Amino acid sequence: MLNFIIYDYPVVGSTNDQVKSLLAQGAGEGTVVRAERQTAGRGRRGRIWVSEPGNLYCSLLLTPRCSLIQASQLSFVMAVAVGQTILPFLTAPELLYYKWPNDLLFQGRKMAGILIETESRGRQLAEACVVGIGININSAPDHPAYPVTALKRHTKLNLIKEVIFSELLEQIKRYYHVWKQEGFDPICEMWKQRAYGLGQNMTILVGNKEMNGQFVDISPEGALLLKRENGSIQKLMSAEIS
Ligand code: BTN
Repeated sequence: MLNFIIYDYPVVGSTNDQVKSLLAQGAGEGTVVRAERQTAGRGRRGRIWVSEPGNLYCSLLLTPRCSLIQASQLSFVMAVAVGQTILPFLTAPELLYYKWPNDLLFQGRKMAGILIETESRGRQLAEACVVGIGININSAPDHPAYPVTALKRHTKLNLIKEVIFSELLEQIKRYYHVWKQEGFDPICEMWKQRAYGLGQNMTILVGNKEMNGQFVDISPEGALLLKRENGSIQKLMSAEIS
């Protein structure tokens, strides 16, 4: 089971970077950095993650000792853990979706984002994974690339950041354990129950190239399976649904 050592900061550049610097000083699995705000918060594809006080910003160090392909499944593990954290607060939980690989959308608007940065030994082995999680609790800073929302707009409950944070760590502990013990299948099944766009025609960004097709399934490794117009199935490991 994961044990957490939590470092709390009023302000950092990026909690992911702070975890990396603790890793360089010998920190181990379960190291968590949380900050009230970030001055250089970042998202996937080099985007900025505006990090005002009031939302949750944290990063966690994992050393799963697995292949890089398996490590990419952590995106699903973390999306499910964040989803299970948020769901009990929502007045309409049926509107929460996971957008491949690891965005959390409420009514099509981003409520939480996950950035996993993996350091590898050689080409195959994931040595350390830094899992960064941002949850829009009280505010949703506008983003040029996608619509956004915050948990506060969709709950009747009192939101206490401390409670959400400790629940998040519990859910991470739980689903990381499930993944390590039982593999990817149970995680993938949970994820697919709330998969955004599954069965539908989608536009996928692969690098800077757009690709169209039907999102038919997730492969046993975690790739998005896209059925092209000519009937062929394309396996996408690293891309983004636009
Ligand atoms: C995305 O959706 O693009 C991922 C956003 C991830 C944001 C979090 S906030 C905590 C951690 N520190 C960062 O700099 N980024 C992640």
